[in-house]
Amino acid sequence: MTFAKLTATAHYAPEQVVTNDDLSQIMETSDEWIASRTGIRQRHIVQDENTSDLAANVAQQLLEKASLAAEDLDFIIVATVSPDGNMPSTASLVQAKIGAIKAFAFDLTAACSGFVYALSVADKLIASGAYRNGIVIGAEVLSKIVDWSDRSTSVLFGDGAGGVLLQASSDTPLILAESLKSDGNRGMSLTSNLTHANSPFSKSESEDDLFLKMDGRAIFDFAVRDVPKNILESLEKAELNPDDIDYLLLHQANSRILDKMARKIKTERCKFLQNMQEYGNTSAASIPILLSEAVDAGTIKLGSSQKLVLTGFGGGLTWGTLVVKI
Ligand code: ACO
Repeated sequence: MTFAKLTATAHYAPEQVVTNDDLSQIMETSDEWIASRTGIRQRHIVQDENTSDLAANVAQQLLEKASLAAEDLDFIIVATVSPDGNMPSTASLVQAKIGAIKAFAFDLTAACSGFVYALSVADKLIASGAYRNGIVIGAEVLSKIVDWSDRSTSVLFGDGAGGVLLQASSDTPLILAESLKSDGNRGMSLTSNLTHANSPFSKSESEDDLFLKMDGRAIFDFAVRDVPKNILESLEKAELNPDDIDYLLLHQANSRILDKMARKIKTERCKFLQNMQEYGNTSAASIPILLSEAVDAGTIKLGSSQKLVLTGFGGGLTWGTLVVKI
């Protein structure tokens, strides 16, 4: 039996830091408003990099950390809602940038659940026995899709990328239990890049809506109602209690959401790792950046058999939990 093993983590954020005070210079907002409602104090914003540049930086670091040659990679999956373009995929651009000539590459779109979905898919690709080495990256340049004239959304998001290297190993499974969910009926509460028929033969009168739009209250309610249930259901499948989990790495949207989650699943708040104060909400990149920072800090140790909960939630609507043993 072949299982995937998580053998390296990496992250990268653009050098430019934009603080809440910086934002208050260009729009009617304040550090107090943003920090008290979200926990966010700053975010990284690209100057001239695109999503594939951030993701390729992460991919290169992963190869170096594992001393793996690019040509030994079998696949590259990039989870993103802010790709360089629809074609070529951001993953294909990463493949070219790092010279992974034998890898197949594709993007996966599941918004802020993208990394969790992609890690689940990658785990199955390796468990199939067909592939041995794969990279899963969450990468976003959300600064190019937010509406900078809308203070209710633009203050929330940031740019960055994080990722993991998965390699075939014969000992124990990485994923102990999982539960991935979608509800397209509630999808319009978080949208971006909505396009319509516009050919000389079409009859559509709808306008395209390219910017990110969000019903903040609806998303908040979704996060605190559906997501704790999903975590508890996943733990039950793994036959574990919240106390058995070393750390919970949830999508970094808002610290108040994490406070409520901790109460709902009756787990100490300090087990919920948090870095949105430094990065803002980086959608598909938030969980792998958090994981990589925790590995760098020694809080999480690869190969230590620590048990983690990885939970994404966001546009689609999508949400999902992986209970992993690393
Ligand atoms: N600065 C100052 N005032 C602002 C700002 C801002 N940046 N943005 C909005 N406001 C004003 C509004 O105009 C409104 O004013 P009004 O009452 O005079 O009309 C008022 O603040 C709204 O304030 P609140 O009702 O206190 O806002 P709320 O508590 O709903 O907080 C927030 C908004 C933070 C977006 C909240 O709804 C939330 O956390 N939602 C979760 C959604 C989320 O985090 N989404 C991230 C993307 S989705 C995802 O990743 C899952």
